[in-house]
Amino acid sequence: MDNPGDGKRWNMNRSNPREKLNSGLHNTHLTAKIFISTMYPWIDRRRGSSMGRGAGYGKVILFGEHFVVYGIPAIASSIEYKTEAIVERVVDGRLPPPSGREGSMAGKGWVMEDNRPANPGYKSAKYEQQKRSVELVFKEAGFDPEKNNIRITLGGDLVAVGGVGASAAVCVAIARALNDEFNLGFDDERINRIAFIGDSAYAGTPSGIDNTASTYGGLIWFVRNMKGGENTIERLKLREPLRIVMGNTLITANTEAAVSGVKRRRQEHPEKYERIFDQAKNLVYRARWALESFNLKEIGKLMNENHALLREIEVSHPKLDELVEIALKNGALGAKMTGGGLGGYMVALTPDEEIQHRVAKAMESAGYKALETRIGV
Ligand code: MEV
Repeated sequence: MDNPGDGKRWNMNRSNPREKLNSGLHNTHLTAKIFISTMYPWIDRRRGSSMGRGAGYGKVILFGEHFVVYGIPAIASSIEYKTEAIVERVVDGRLPPPSGREGSMAGKGWVMEDNRPANPGYKSAKYEQQKRSVELVFKEAGFDPEKNNIRITLGGDLVAVGGVGASAAVCVAIARALNDEFNLGFDDERINRIAFIGDSAYAGTPSGIDNTASTYGGLIWFVRNMKGGENTIERLKLREPLRIVMGNTLITANTEAAVSGVKRRRQEHPEKYERIFDQAKNLVYRARWALESFNLKEIGKLMNENHALLREIEVSHPKLDELVEIALKNGALGAKMTGGGLGGYMVALTPDEEIQHRVAKAMESAGYKALETRIGV
């Protein structure tokens, strides 16, 4: 999947992160530059380009969240929504104060405005984690905002909420925008590493699956290296894109709390958890086969089984379970919670566009929000 969405120049290029504008994109960039230099005189206009841009994909975990933290393989995909970041240099110490809008924040030498769509209360709930995450991104990128003051603006069409990799997408977007503006020469591997460190402010000890899906895009088979070495990342191919609906519970959950809850219960009930983890491992290999042979019925069935396992380890939520029910009643082939759980999103596999719309509509009628997208594009 390449740069989904609006066709603007967003730095998510795999081979050449500095690849410049094509003609259709040029106007957008120019208009933005004129707008910025008129509205924001503190932006450095001595340079030809006064801002860097970057984007990170949202993601969906199809199989294996939580188990992946313990080295069991998982399957994830980017979705057609992304977070975008603009980094602007600010000269002569004329850093503007944060606007005070929800999610706006500042640190030494930087200020950030968060214009992403979000679940109500999400930005306030995540304020501390977000701030720490930005600072970790700077540190890992070797970037010192006290030497180069910057203003960051977040945007894009990915709704900030648990389950869609929102925190990892921000890290990827900022790392790419810094790379773009300051010619840091980062390749995707480096961007991915920076995002992994940045995401740890949200997820404690993340497996790395979120930042990997957000950096590289596409459908991936991911295995965490439990010895701290390189993770296994394999790209999986689908015969055709799959249509999914992602149901949003509107609940802001804490991934770190979900992950540490599993850790604690696993220590308390080792036998029960060993059985469940064995089942999860077996399931993800079958899921890979089902995806690669494009057996939709089997993929759906395995998603249902995966949801049952996630319920057993107590990371689901009654609203996630209700959304799963709604999806299945309205023709989805399978459905499960996705990501950290305890709120956030679930995902349903739908066989065609009509059923995709029907499932999304049924979720919305029940008071939830739904997002229709495709994977393996
Ligand atoms: C969160 O999107 C996925 C988890 O498995 C945590 C992780 O892998 O870091 C719950």
